[in-house]
Parts: sequence; C-alpha cells; structure tokens
Amino acid sequence: MKTAIITGITGQDGSYLAEFLLNKGYFVVGLKRRSSTICTDRIDSFYDHPNFKLRYYNLNDSGCFYRLLLEYKPQEVYNLAAQSHVKVSFETPEETVNAVAMGPLRQLEAIRSVDPKIKFYQASSSEMFGVNPDAPYNEKSRLMPASPYACAKVFAHNLVNNYRESYGLHASSGILFNHESPRRGETFVTRKITIAAAKIKLGLQDKLYLGNLDAKRDWGFAGDYVEAMWLMLQQKRPDDYVISTGETYSVNDFLEAVFDSANLSIEKHVEIDPSLFRPQEVPYLLGDCTKAKKKLGWEPKIKFKELAAMMYSYDIKRIRELAFEV
Ligand code: NAP
Ligand code: GDD
Repeated sequence: MKTAIITGITGQDGSYLAEFLLNKGYFVVGLKRRSSTICTDRIDSFYDHPNFKLRYYNLNDSGCFYRLLLEYKPQEVYNLAAQSHVKVSFETPEETVNAVAMGPLRQLEAIRSVDPKIKFYQASSSEMFGVNPDAPYNEKSRLMPASPYACAKVFAHNLVNNYRESYGLHASSGILFNHESPRRGETFVTRKITIAAAKIKLGLQDKLYLGNLDAKRDWGFAGDYVEAMWLMLQQKRPDDYVISTGETYSVNDFLEAVFDSANLSIEKHVEIDPSLFRPQEVPYLLGDCTKAKKKLGWEPKIKFKELAAMMYSYDIKRIRELAFEV
C-alpha cells in the first residue's frame, strides 16, 4: 500500500485529494496545524477511515516534518498548505511569506536528507503570472507576481525546479488556476457570492459587498484539479504543468450567473466596498493547459456555468437546513 502525506488537509484541496487517494487505496497522513477552534468540517466524512491518520504540523516546523517522514515513510508528499488568501497576504506579508516560501524549502530539505526517492508535489499558482500582459499563460510564461503571496509562490516554484536539477528529486509543481467548489473558503469571491445569494434568497441577508468586479479568472472545479496533482507524481520524470479550463470570466460574470439563477436583483442587493480592493490587482488570468492534456491525459470536466450552479445549490440547501431545521 502506498503512503501519501498531504499538508493543508483541512483546506479545500486537501480534502478532495485525500478522498481521491483513499479511493485509490492509499494510506493517507493528513497534516493540520493547531487552531483554537475545530476546523475539520471538510475532512469529517473520512476522519474514521482505517487508512487515514490526522497529525499536527506547521509549515514553520522543520523538525516535525522530519519526524513525520521517518515515522510514515511516504512515497508521495503533496504540499498544499499555505496562507492562501491574496488580499490577506498584503495584511500579513511576513507570516505569509514565511509559510508559503520557507515551508516548501524546509520540506525539500527534509526529503533530500531522509529519502530522496520521495515524490513531491508543490501547489504553485496562476497568481505567479500576475500582471504579465501576454495571456494565455503556459509553463514558460514570464512570472510577474503582484502580491506578497504570489512572490512567495514564485520563490517556492523556482526552488522546486532548483532541487529537481541540483539533487535529482522527483519534485513537480502544478501551476493551478483558480479552482472552486462547495468546499471553497468562505472569503474567496465565488463562495462569498454563492453564500450571500442563498442568504438573500432566504431572507437572511440584504446586501452583498464586493470589491473589483472587472477582474477575470480561469475558474475550474477543485475535484477535477486534484486528479492532475496525482497524475504529475505518477510520471517517470518530474515537471511543471499548467492546470486550467482555458476559459476566463469576470467576477461580474460569476455574480450574474448566480444572481440570475436565483432570480435576484444585483442592483438591489450588491454594493461596491472600496476597502475590498487590493493594493495591486491581477486583472486577467487565462491558462493554456495543452501540456497537461498531452502528457498527463488530463482534462477539466466541470466548467464555469455548472460550477456556479453546483456551488449555489449546495449553499441554498445547506443554509435552508441550518436556518429552518428542515
Ligand atoms: P485553503 O482552503 O486555504 O487551505 C489551505 C490549508 O493550509 C488549510 O488546511 C490551512 O489550515 C493550511 N495552512 C495554512 N497555514 C498553515 C501553516 N502555517 N502550517 C500548516 N498548515 C497551514 O487552500 P486551497 O484552496 O485548498 O489551496 C491549496 C493550495 O493550493 C494552497 O497552497 C494554495 O495557495 C494553492 N492554490 C490554490 C488555488 C485555488 O484556486 N484554490 C489555486 C492555485 C494554488 P487551516 O484550515 O488551519 O487554515
Ligand atoms: N476575496 C474577494 N472578496 N475577492 C474579491 C471580492 C471580495 O469581496 N470582490 C472582488 N474580488 C476579486 C478580487 O479582487 C480578485 O480579482 C478576484 O475577485 C478573485 O479573488 P479571490 O476569490 O480572493 O481569489 P484570487 O484570484 O485572489 O486567489 C485565488 O486563486 C489563486 C490562483 O490564481 C486563491 O485561491 C489563491 O490561493 C490562488 O493561488
């Protein structure tokens, strides 16, 4: 039985990837940081699975990671942990950069010392392309990061390449474009919109405050994207891959898709709050995932309209049940 370690297990991607690997017969060690409130909602459904073990870890703790490698002897490590909110990274830049950049450095050092055969996946991001005007972006596009978060992701991305070349590690980076789901964090714009629309529809909220509606993103489904992570580690050689849908839509398009299907008026319920704008914005993201299609045989299955509908129907059902105990 193969063993995989997943950092960031309590996050959106961690939970989907763990389910995917458990279904493939892996033993999965999920790593979570300690928090004062319980935040295991996304992993409660498989917490008791006989092939799942939850352990504490923090991206800032090198010794802890060494011990976990020695104890579980994994074949694969997926580094998904991060302070992943771009706007928050402007507010807590030092904490963000320490975790997002130095976390993978600590992990790669541990892998190189304990067992250089361990395959490593790094969660790189389309935010790394930043303000590059030459979209669509592929693996060779110039990285022009526009936030502390993206600068730190660029550092980690370059480091993975460096450890691959210097020490022959099987270390790959997935340059994933935005991916969403009913498990998306509630302060990311898509989920903020679907939760607010559901609450407005049920008479539990009146206004939704948003920032920049013009930014465009290449939005896919997280459940599809974790398969690509796994496929990267099954290849003979490590490499970098863009994972995207190849379509881009504005925040306003997403808002309209959700509000139209809920039959709600944007004019009546949505207001712009300047405090939600970022010091620097990434205006346009569009990915070209030709390489992943060709080499990994990967394709996105769920696209924009279906994704918006999936998220809204999940939230309206959940919030109705919570509010009215039906
Ligand atoms: P997420 O939902 O925000 O999950 C992040 C995870 O990292 C959570 O489990 C979080 O724990 C954990 N974490 C944060 N700081 C940590 C620390 N110092 N030590 C240990 N764990 C820590 O993010 P996601 O959407 O699943 O994304 C997964 C990864 O892909 C991230 O690295 C993100 O930057 C990257 N990425 C995401 C997207 C996207 O569109 N979703 C696109 C490209 C790249 P808590 O639950 O305690 O907060
Ligand atoms: N969060 C948020 N909240 N964003 C808003 C809001 C709001 O109220 N109003 C407008 N936006 C705009 C942001 O300015 C941005 O242009 C866009 O909506 C998407 O914002 P987020 O959903 O926060 O995602 P992101 O694109 O900044 O970052 C996500 O995708 C990256 C990959 O490109 C995160 O998941 C990152 O971790 C990931 O790397």
